[in-house]
Amino acid sequence: MPGAPGSDQTLMVGARMTIVEGSGAVVTGGGAGIGRALARRLAAGGARVVVNDLDAGAAAAVAAEVGGYAVPGDVATEPGVRELIAAARGHLGEIDIFCSNAGIAEGTGPDTPEESWQRSWELNVMAHVRASRELLPGWLSRGRGCFVVTASAAGLLTMLGAAPYSVTKHGAEAYAEWLAATYGHRGLAVHCICPQGVRTSMLAASGRAGNVVLREAAIEPEQVGEALCEGLADGRFLILPHPEVLGYYGMRAGDTDRWLQGMNRMQQRIEEAGL
Ligand SMILES: NC(=O)c1ccc[n+]([C@@H]2O[C@H](COP(=O)([O-])OP(=O)(O)OC[C@H]3O[C@@H](n4cnc5c(N)ncnc54)[C@H](O)[C@@H]3O)[C@@H](O)[C@H]2O)c1
Repeated sequence: MPGAPGSDQTLMVGARMTIVEGSGAVVTGGGAGIGRALARRLAAGGARVVVNDLDAGAAAAVAAEVGGYAVPGDVATEPGVRELIAAARGHLGEIDIFCSNAGIAEGTGPDTPEESWQRSWELNVMAHVRASRELLPGWLSRGRGCFVVTASAAGLLTMLGAAPYSVTKHGAEAYAEWLAATYGHRGLAVHCICPQGVRTSMLAASGRAGNVVLREAAIEPEQVGEALCEGLADGRFLILPHPEVLGYYGMRAGDTDRWLQGMNRMQQRIEEAGL
């Protein structure tokens, strides 16, 4: 197909590396868990870090620890994102790296209340859209910017027992892909972090499915911070702190029915576990 990815007609854009040292970085949901680890790792790499969190005390504590600046606030709303970016610009001058990390995992299946589906949509998808809307004009005019979305392996695969999470994380990954495909040639680096289980309060609250599917291979948030810095250095879009996710993703694409059968067997194990 002419112009298809990887064909001769495709104008290939080289990997876009991002230098952490001296950069101005923002991390949403940076008061705990993966966001705190990203903030710590970016600061250790020499970035000046703005730490956002809904929990003002947590944001302040992490900012104090990393020599950064706290901007508490709710990034699940349009004004919340706008105010965060204005405050971060006021402090940093330019924002070089924006880690759109805050996310929620609530709800189970189709019976999940409408408000809960909506909360997942606002934070797990629209927060990324709104942040990029604010950041893109400046980044495109200077020909440089780095946008990091914390999606999940659930965004490439699925998370059993968590339909709103799976659907909205697919949305997050799809939006990050769209940004990369659209603006890669104009200086935008986009990265999508897709871990499986990470030992945070979110994993602790993930219930029976989390126990069966995620707990055994769970990693520490610091490993996600390391994976981010490796991904920034080599310009890779998909950041996979659990490398085996790449194989599952390939299997899902290459033999979808077999992959679905395997997932359904796992669902049966979850039901049998009866935890
Ligand atoms: N823990 C895992 O196993 C795992 C796996 C894959 C992806 N993720 C993703 O990583 C990201 C971080 O998850 P975590 O495990 O660190 O979660 P966490 O619940 O431990 O921490 C999330 C932080 O985000 C903050 N937050 C929540 N809503 C917010 C909002 N509206 N505005 C600003 N801050 C808000 C919370 O106060 C908290 O400090 C999420 O996007 C999550 O979906 C987590």
